[in-house]
Amino acid sequence: MADPKSAVRNPHLKIVFVGHVDHGKSTLIGRILRDTNSLPEGKLDQVERACAAEGMEFEWAFLLDALLEEQKQNITIDTTQIPFRTPGREYVIIDAPGHKEFLKNMITGAASADSAVLVIAANEGVLEQSRRHAYLLSLFGIQQFCVVVNKMDLVDFSEARFREIEREYRKFLGMLGLEPRLFIPVSARLGENIVNRSEKMAWHKGGTVLQAFDQLIPLAPPTQLPLRFCVQDIYKFDERRIIAGRVETGTLKPGDELVFSPANKTSVVNSIERWKANDNSLAIAGDSIGITLREQIFVERGYVGSHQKDAPIETNRFHADLFWIARQPAQLTHLYSARLATQEMKCQIASIEQVIDSASLERTSSNAQQLTRNEVGRVVIYTRAPVVLDNHDRVPNLGRFVLVDNGTIVAGGIVHGGVYTDRATVKSKNIFWSEGKITARARAAQHGHRGAVVWLTGLSGAGKSTIAQALERELFQRAMHPYVLDGDNIRHGLNSNLGFAPQDRVENIRRVSEVAKLMADAGNVVITAFISPYRLDRQRARAIALEGNAEFIEVFVDAPLHVCEERDPKNLYKKARAGEIREFTGIDAPYEAPADPEIVVHTDRQSVTESVATILEQLLPRLRAEPPMKH
Ligand code: ADX
Repeated sequence: MADPKSAVRNPHLKIVFVGHVDHGKSTLIGRILRDTNSLPEGKLDQVERACAAEGMEFEWAFLLDALLEEQKQNITIDTTQIPFRTPGREYVIIDAPGHKEFLKNMITGAASADSAVLVIAANEGVLEQSRRHAYLLSLFGIQQFCVVVNKMDLVDFSEARFREIEREYRKFLGMLGLEPRLFIPVSARLGENIVNRSEKMAWHKGGTVLQAFDQLIPLAPPTQLPLRFCVQDIYKFDERRIIAGRVETGTLKPGDELVFSPANKTSVVNSIERWKANDNSLAIAGDSIGITLREQIFVERGYVGSHQKDAPIETNRFHADLFWIARQPAQLTHLYSARLATQEMKCQIASIEQVIDSASLERTSSNAQQLTRNEVGRVVIYTRAPVVLDNHDRVPNLGRFVLVDNGTIVAGGIVHGGVYTDRATVKSKNIFWSEGKITARARAAQHGHRGAVVWLTGLSGAGKSTIAQALERELFQRAMHPYVLDGDNIRHGLNSNLGFAPQDRVENIRRVSEVAKLMADAGNVVITAFISPYRLDRQRARAIALEGNAEFIEVFVDAPLHVCEERDPKNLYKKARAGEIREFTGIDAPYEAPADPEIVVHTDRQSVTESVATILEQLLPRLRAEPPMKH
């Protein structure tokens, strides 16, 4: 639905300025402000005088600082925004001084820029940072931009130098699929080619910076996209509950039926409330509004309202491209906070599938353990609570997020490859967030994998405990929920009243089977490490697990008796041979090797890592949660 009012409501063109710290961004902005008469009356004089009094040479950066300082007093502005106007139209400059701020501006999209200016100093040329900035633009989908080659006075206004930079940067931009509108040679310090054409660079036919700006097209608010109403807060006035939030995309009107994720509850919009009441028949993308609902349902900050037929994805595991900016590298086991629209939740990077250097575009494939500063990782993110999101290419506003560690933004990312489910079907089949019994399937959906029992069996000293722990670590690093039940430990607690007589062993395994079943039903991957010498007991363990609908995978940890005896890690074989221990498995008690186990590992020939890899290969596919239903 096209909205004729949209153009009126978005009169400014928002430009983000990016570039290496010393490439003259502040001077460029300062010069634009001055030459368009956009500076507050007397401001320039005041700063110039202050500089003189301090015996310092005037710099434009001081003037910008002074302006920004004033802005900080003004709490209504949440990003650094500097307005200016040309005869043609009004602009807002989103200044991005530091690397981090830049990313924050780009992602929080509080000021989702229409366009960007990349600043490069002619004397230094294309630096690593110039490439990285361009990568960020391409990642977050800013298509419209121009490149300003500054400090031309330092290279004698040389056309050759300008062309050289243009050639090099264009090539890199092309590799990212970016095409700049214009390359403009300027001297911000001297005001050449900013507002006025430069006579010193008469060879440049492409126009001034301001002319380039006037050719940029403001992006229309995304009213055509599916509705995403992101809840910020709930207010109570009298008896009314007002749900305050921002319409990120789409449109909303009284009478619309909304479904709120993640609760998946529906209600009808009763009214739209605005602080400055005007037209309350329609709210569109970009509007901050309050709404009341006909039927009261539980909604809180972070919830996303949408129309039933175009609902977002709800998941706790998703694919993303992650641009890492923190000095401290990304770590797989570390807990971060993810912020996406108004949602915030704990999360972990479950795996890093590919790493791309944002300056050289070099790729390193498969299963990296780390992501370092300025690298882009193709990752899987696992959140502790369900997150509501969209693929970035479908609804950008709900497809970008930041990771935060200790209050600092460490990375920005975009979501891709998510599968949309049909909410109506999901609801009727009680898959997500049903109010009744929580099913194994719902648990699996939340955990990202099914519950299972991985039953290791083998002689004492065959390597069951070692493999169990290594396997547990591998699964844990994939953000799964493994837990080891180990003979030596269980016999100290739950089964401390049992010995090694045949009936005790039978009871030992029976109890362990029941515990494993419960834990698997709770959604864990239970790894048991018991000799479990009797075939019949293991068969019973399998039956018990299957009763609970858990996968059961028998793993024979095989090593010949003489190998185990040579290892003799606890000196028990020696004692058994000496007759100090009775009924020792393999010596004077039987071990019935599995006839048909799912997996066999030979620890006399395979290393621990190899054994674990053999197990993982067969295990992981069996743990996959059933895929969500597609449209
Ligand atoms: S099981 O046979 O009932 O499955 P479980 O795996 O719980 O045995 O315990 C085996 C561990 O108990 C061995 O790794 C060893 O450290 C210790 N142990 C002590 N006495 C014996 C014994 N007579 N036979 C086997 N293991 C023993």
